[in-house]
Amino acid sequence: MTKPNMNYANLKDSYLFFGIAQKVKKYSELNPDKKILRLGIGDVSLPLCKTVISALTEGVSDQAEKSSFQGYMPECGAPFLRTTIAEFYRKKGVDISDDEVFVSSGASDELGDILDLFDKENSALVIEPAYPAYVDANVIAGRKIIHLSSSIENGFTPEPDEDHITDIIYICSPNNPTGAVFTKEKLKKWVDFANRHGSVILFDAAYEAFIEQDNIPHSIFEIDGAITCAIEICSLSKTAGFTGTRLGYTVIPKALVRSGMNFNSMWVRNRTTKTNGVSYIIQKGGAAVFTDEGQIEIKENIAYYKGNAKILMRVLDGCGIEYTGGVNAPYIWLKCPKGLGSWEFFDLLLDKIQVVGTPGEGFGKAGEGFFRFSTFGSRENTNEAADRLKHLFKSL
Ligand code: MLT
Repeated sequence: MTKPNMNYANLKDSYLFFGIAQKVKKYSELNPDKKILRLGIGDVSLPLCKTVISALTEGVSDQAEKSSFQGYMPECGAPFLRTTIAEFYRKKGVDISDDEVFVSSGASDELGDILDLFDKENSALVIEPAYPAYVDANVIAGRKIIHLSSSIENGFTPEPDEDHITDIIYICSPNNPTGAVFTKEKLKKWVDFANRHGSVILFDAAYEAFIEQDNIPHSIFEIDGAITCAIEICSLSKTAGFTGTRLGYTVIPKALVRSGMNFNSMWVRNRTTKTNGVSYIIQKGGAAVFTDEGQIEIKENIAYYKGNAKILMRVLDGCGIEYTGGVNAPYIWLKCPKGLGSWEFFDLLLDKIQVVGTPGEGFGKAGEGFFRFSTFGSRENTNEAADRLKHLFKSL
């Protein structure tokens, strides 16, 4: 008889955002007259920018002509896009070659797939609170997970310690959910630690485009020594509104070698076996993000979301609620008022003011007592949510 992957029995009942969506759906069916404002999952609300749309349209036209038609794309990414992304890094002073860039269908897909490169016996360090897919993907693979709690006291950017040595280390900066950022100095400590112990850092840079302070690294490869211990996973979802379009990229340096195995070559082998590449049309659109016009336009959209963050932060400041994030990241991470638990606060917000957020406990135990708001909504809804929140906080 077939033996299923029994590790699924070790997962929580449902994936965080799926579970929340079900809860909200049920509420909305029972209360059809209520207007629900969604500040939960980080899904963008602005359309793709003009330059991207023109490139996508051009891609569609190319597929209509025999002379420009494209069939299967190269598994690791279209050369035009790999070159464009590598040049983007090089312009920022990070020296990577075109074939160290792999085009993906998005960071969340890639974060799961990339685990193919690691032995099942490897252990994984997750700094919590953390994006729940890190834990779930490793539970599915049956890997040992070491949870390292972070807190307000260490700015949600803990330093490595010799009691928590693992083979794989997840670092997300700017962080989902806390919005915290690792400085160059802090990241250097993790890079040195990983090199010292032969670990590999999976660096989730999905929110790098939101960094506004100087001296905060956008890429782990800005740190000396990272090319021998890190893989960077990035996405155009939040950078350029590709949540529905799906496109991301991963950088695997050729210098990353363990037990004589080269991770870059292994990933080429993996991709050529497991995928026929990302659609030509989408890659055309993705390349447009890195043009001068594309960069101006995506920055306008990011500025819009940052405007939403300011509206919410003003309410929290006015009501004396402690929070992090909202500056270098599209998430605001707040302490639940009156010592409420994070799911209690979730229910309160849904019942009383129909505002949906994400309970901190969904990001691991260290998130209990905290709550996350996404700033990716429309200005109109953010203003309305801010108003409702202000009244609620004042009434507590
Ligand atoms: C989030 O809300 O944490 C993200 O949007 C989820 C994701 O990127 O998959």
